[in-house]
Order: sequence, then structure tokens, then C-alpha cells
Amino acid sequence: NENTLASPVGTTLDRYIMRKQAEFPFATGELSQLLRDIALAAKIVNREINRAGLMDITGNYGAQNVQGEQQQKLDVVANIRFIRALKNGGEACAILSEEDDEIIYTGNDQGRYVVAMDPLDGSSNIDVNVSIGTIFSIYRRVSPMGSKATREDFLQGGRKQVAAGYILYGSSTMLVYSTGHGVACFTYEHSLGEFFLSHDGVQIPAQGTTFSCNEGNWLDYPEWVRCYLTQCKERRYTGRYIGSLVADYHRNLFKGGIYLYPPTAKNLNGKLRLLYEGYPLAFLIEQAGGKALAGTEAVLDIVPTDYHQRAPLFIGSSEMVDDLVACMAQEG
Ligand code: AHG
Ligand code: MN
Ligand code: MN
Ligand code: MN
Repeated sequence: NENTLASPVGTTLDRYIMRKQAEFPFATGELSQLLRDIALAAKIVNREINRAGLMDITGNYGAQNVQGEQQQKLDVVANIRFIRALKNGGEACAILSEEDDEIIYTGNDQGRYVVAMDPLDGSSNIDVNVSIGTIFSIYRRVSPMGSKATREDFLQGGRKQVAAGYILYGSSTMLVYSTGHGVACFTYEHSLGEFFLSHDGVQIPAQGTTFSCNEGNWLDYPEWVRCYLTQCKERRYTGRYIGSLVADYHRNLFKGGIYLYPPTAKNLNGKLRLLYEGYPLAFLIEQAGGKALAGTEAVLDIVPTDYHQRAPLFIGSSEMVDDLVACMAQEG
């Protein structure tokens, strides 16, 4: 039926969500409402970001997070806004955030979903007006409704995600997400306060000629990573590294490319966190026909043990990831 066709560009997020929900007769609408609540928080954070320089919310917040990072004021502001929107929305019973050691209970113990999030990705770019993002990952809870959420709700593993996505606060603000039936992109029109569908059924090109990594860590990289990057250079590929995972990822999603965060001396499992960076972006890239590995293992197959555990991330065009695997195999 016409619902299975890609929706016409220009559909609002609300209408898109309703059409998609209509395709699933048993859908009860809670996930739809949760996505709306995330979109509302995105609009609010977008406004905070656009006026950060005028509201003295740039710079260090003056505290460290569980990652040992100096929290930026906008890390904290975005965290508060997303938590408040999810609390008020009522669909999520608990939240895991990069910025909080323990899970946050929303008080909605009847909520069917839990959300893991990176409220502000690319914090090092906040004060220099470079694109930043938010990443979210949604699970249906496994603990009984009406009770408090548990660790198990968050440690189900990447393949149990029911939805995942990100917001990119860039030259335009975009919301990109999937509920497991393809990747849709929405562009925010702030004069109307609406997200409009700009791309539906996004597929990442199988091949690309862009590699994204922080080559400052070259001397720490495993031999097989250096082998692959040397191959890229011999092929005169383009190096592009923005320092905001969401921005590098989004460019590669549309143009083809590979993002690499290998193990380093500072972070033996890489810097990126599995539950709210690796898993959601791996979920999306597989929906878009790409690949995401942590090494020999697919990111989504990693069995999680800790809320803030890190994992190496090699993610993007399938043929580029395959070339990386070939280098890995050569090293044995
Ligand atoms: P976050 O700002 O959420 O802590 O994430 C930052 C991540 C990612 O966005 C980016 O690609 C990477 O850190 C940059 O790390 P390096 O500065 O070590 O390259
Ligand atoms: Mn991040
Ligand atoms: Mn962050
Ligand atoms: Mn951080």
C-alpha cells in the first residue's frame, strides 16, 4: 500500500511518525510519542546552541563527568533539557547519559522504554562554532512495568535497540533516525518550529574515498590500522576529521567514507562509548547498508557489561570496512 512507499519529501516529522505507526497495527503509539519528545528536546537544545555565545553557556562547567572529561556548560545544558523532555513526555522510565554516572529515573515507572544518550557530542567544538550533535538509543524495557528500571534494561545489547538516531546541529539542524525500517532524515525549519522530511530510506554508498580519524594518535594505532590508512593515502583518498563524531558520520553517510576511532595509549578500547555512541550509530549504519566493527567483531554483537564502557569504532561504507578487515587479516 502507499504507506510502504517512501514518504514525500516535505512531510512533517509528526505526519511521518503517524504514517509509519499506521503500518504496524499493534503499535500503541508510545514509541511515536517518545520520538516526538526527543524532537522537542532537539528544538530546545538547538535554540540554546544557537545563542550559547550570548548566554554565557560556553566554556567549562567546572566539573568532571564519569569519563574524566571537563564538562562543558552546553554538555550540562543539553543533558538537563533532554532529561526534562523525557521526564515530561512520560514514555521513558529511565535514562543513561554520558554525563551521569548512574541511570536517571524519570519517575515514569509505567514507561515502556529506556533511552541511552550522548546529550552533546563533539564538546570540544562548542566554543569554536563547529557542528556538534546529540546521539540517542532506545530499548523496550525488560524489567516489569511499574517497577524501577534496572541495569538489565540498558545492558540488552545493540541488536535489541528498537530505535536510534542523532541530531546534527550544523549549517542546518537535522534529525536522523531509524526504528529498524530504514533511515529517515528531517531538516529543521526554525521559522515554523517543524522538522520536515528531507531524505527517506537513506543508503550509504558502498564505496567511498574519505577517511576520518585523529592521526595525532598514529603512533598508538595497531599495525593493521596503519596498513589500512597507508592504503587510503596510496589511493590519494581524502582525509576529513571534524572532531564531532556525529558530523563526520553524517558526511560519510551521505557521501561514503569510513570513520575510525582505534585503540590509543590513552584509551586502550578507543575513546567512544558503546551504549550511546557505538551502538546507536552502528544500528543506523546497518540500516543504511553500511558496516560497523569494533575489531573482528560487529559493534552490535558486543555483549555489554558496563554503562560507560568504550569500544573501538570502525564505521561506514561496507567496501571500505571490508578493506580494513583485509588489513586486519593480513596482520593475523
Ligand atoms: P563527546 O564530545 O560526546 O565526549 O564525544 C567526542 C568524541 C567524538 O565526538 C569525536 O569524534 C571524538 O570524541 C574526538 O576525539 P579526539 O579529540 O580524541 O579525536
Ligand atoms: Mn560523543
Ligand atoms: Mn558528549
Ligand atoms: Mn564528552
